[in-house]
Amino acid sequence: MIDYSRDDDGVVTLTMNDPAQPANTMTEAYVAAMSAAVDRLHAEREQVTGVIVTSAKKTFFAGGDLPTMYRATRADAPALFKLLSTIKWDLRRLETYGRPVVAAINGAALGGGLEIALACHHRIALDRPDTRIGFPEVTLGLLPGAGGVTRTVRMLGLAPALTTWLLTGRRFRPADALANGLIDQLAATPAELIIQAREWIRANPDAAQPWDRDGYRIRGGLPAAQLPAFPATLRKQLKGASLPAPEKILATAVEGAQVDFDTAQVIETRHLITLLTGRIAKNMIGAFFFDMRAVNGGLARPRVEAPPPRRVAVLGAGMMGAGIAQACAEAGLDVVVRDVTPELAARAAGPGITTTAEVAALAGCDVVIEAVFEDPALKQRVFAEVLPVVAPDALLASNTSTLPITGLAAGVQRPGDFIGMHFFSPVGKMPLLEIVVGEKTSDAAVARAFDLGRLIGKTPIVVNDGRGFFTSRVIGTFLDEALTMLAEGVPAPSIEHAALQAGYPTGPLALADEVSLTLMQRIRRQYEAATGDGFERLPSHELVDAMVDKHERPGRSGGRGFYAYGNGKRGLLWEGLVEMATPAGRAVPLEDLKDRFLFAEALDARRCLDEGVLRTAEDGNVGSILGIGYPAWTGGVLRFAEQHDDFEGRARELAARYGKRFEPA
Ligand code: NAI
Repeated sequence: MIDYSRDDDGVVTLTMNDPAQPANTMTEAYVAAMSAAVDRLHAEREQVTGVIVTSAKKTFFAGGDLPTMYRATRADAPALFKLLSTIKWDLRRLETYGRPVVAAINGAALGGGLEIALACHHRIALDRPDTRIGFPEVTLGLLPGAGGVTRTVRMLGLAPALTTWLLTGRRFRPADALANGLIDQLAATPAELIIQAREWIRANPDAAQPWDRDGYRIRGGLPAAQLPAFPATLRKQLKGASLPAPEKILATAVEGAQVDFDTAQVIETRHLITLLTGRIAKNMIGAFFFDMRAVNGGLARPRVEAPPPRRVAVLGAGMMGAGIAQACAEAGLDVVVRDVTPELAARAAGPGITTTAEVAALAGCDVVIEAVFEDPALKQRVFAEVLPVVAPDALLASNTSTLPITGLAAGVQRPGDFIGMHFFSPVGKMPLLEIVVGEKTSDAAVARAFDLGRLIGKTPIVVNDGRGFFTSRVIGTFLDEALTMLAEGVPAPSIEHAALQAGYPTGPLALADEVSLTLMQRIRRQYEAATGDGFERLPSHELVDAMVDKHERPGRSGGRGFYAYGNGKRGLLWEGLVEMATPAGRAVPLEDLKDRFLFAEALDARRCLDEGVLRTAEDGNVGSILGIGYPAWTGGVLRFAEQHDDFEGRARELAARYGKRFEPA
């Protein structure tokens, strides 16, 4: 579990290497091994000149043991307290060992991994592009409880600790972690990492933590002067939502800053246990598990052999095509991007990417990802153009966000190889990949799309074909609900506020502007044409039409929508909305507004499941959180329904007040 080796210079290297898992985590076995290693260090102290902590895995240390955390109930609180106290005790014995201790961070150090590193006197990180360093705990409804809050506050001062590291959940590249103060040095190669660690040990025989030195004071001083600012900072960071983890992190940091180190650690443990045994952390960890299971392909990936991707053709060098090309190139794939002119194609240029206007340049590509305009005839035409030159069994993927895959495949030869690979914008940042299976799509094609998604670091979900698949359809439902509220006369600021309060990352009117009202109008008109007489025209449709056609406010890309835009930034809500809205007959309570968003999406996701668009509830949960901003505290859109105390009762209540769409399935 932890390999202990001492060399002739007296430097002990502790190499973490859990034989039972792909990554090191804080299992009970690990905790016992750490205790034993620290015991041995103390027993052999006379022969030891310094300690290097590193890992034999690709990652340094992955963090807490989520299965244990997920199972924890209130009855486990005493056992958790003991476990956390042991972890802290051993890290404390390490940092007060009286010999220099260096963390040689050879790969990702997240959560508990960073906490181990912080208990060392010096941190050197291997500077690789895929290494991430940070505290993702807040995104799981938790706080860094192995000394992470206590040490970060003491290392950086309260405000930077909270606003850069603890409350954001951000995962920094090594150079950014260095700039933000928790990493001290970078190493270019694994060999240099160890050499630099040894040099530091030699140069710093008297190493100690700053807080263990005389006269230490927290940088920036004690919080009294800063306190009044924190609740506001927190509200800003949370966009008004009220969630327990950030509040507990704030409390841990502020309370801990006013007492001695050891008391601060106990405060931290107590707050973590409250979170661990509560429901919200469970939901958030649960969602993360679904994610991991989806990632590992347990359910979604068909169990068939599939050749790995090598050379990818991307059609269209627009916003999506360029992003997809870059993601593929960063994963080491050979990428060729084609657009109609060399100049347009060149917008996607970058390391590992060839750009072209010539079809012939795509010769031999074994994957084609199409990202041209959202026009079915054009999409079919570009596939027809490239089919003669690409590999005869190439995977044919469309990044369409709304067009049914079966319909597109019908106009393309080899529908068995045709599939939807729906990426999200911005491609580099958004973790989800929605794989859309048409009627004739083969299992091998699904497996290939899945493997490609994994290779470029995305979390794939696999859904069946349908209008808007899963994500575009359900996000459409969310936007429709907001527009319906607006048409009812609910003031726009209240709509935005309610969504943020419910935990959505962006207000629906801001989101509608991003999507573009023109696009929403076009998609609805296509649907209207396809539906014929059965189409029901709603007040929300009038509203969008008026915005686009009468007021010429088409959304963000057009410079004005529900909001004003200037200098690339979102400004204020448009004041004309006040006159557009008919005054409501009655005020709609905030709780109803929040629930209307959460329920409208949950009910539609249920219908997706009933109609077979979703194959599993897990795909819906993962897709809703990672793709369309459903609040993470719920654990996902279907889990929200499952866990609600009285989902059907409340849905019926909403149906009686606001319309049939809330009738439970
Ligand atoms: P875009 O307008 O930025 O880019 C489209 C590109 O296709 C342009 O560069 C255009 O010159 C090129 N193109 C047109 N005809 C071509 C041809 N015959 N051969 C090669 N290239 C050609 O559009 P965007 O936003 O990148 O969207 C592309 C696709 O991705 C659409 O189907 C869209 O629905 C889908 N999508 C868009 C998302 C978004 O957030 N914008 C999200 C997910 C999917």
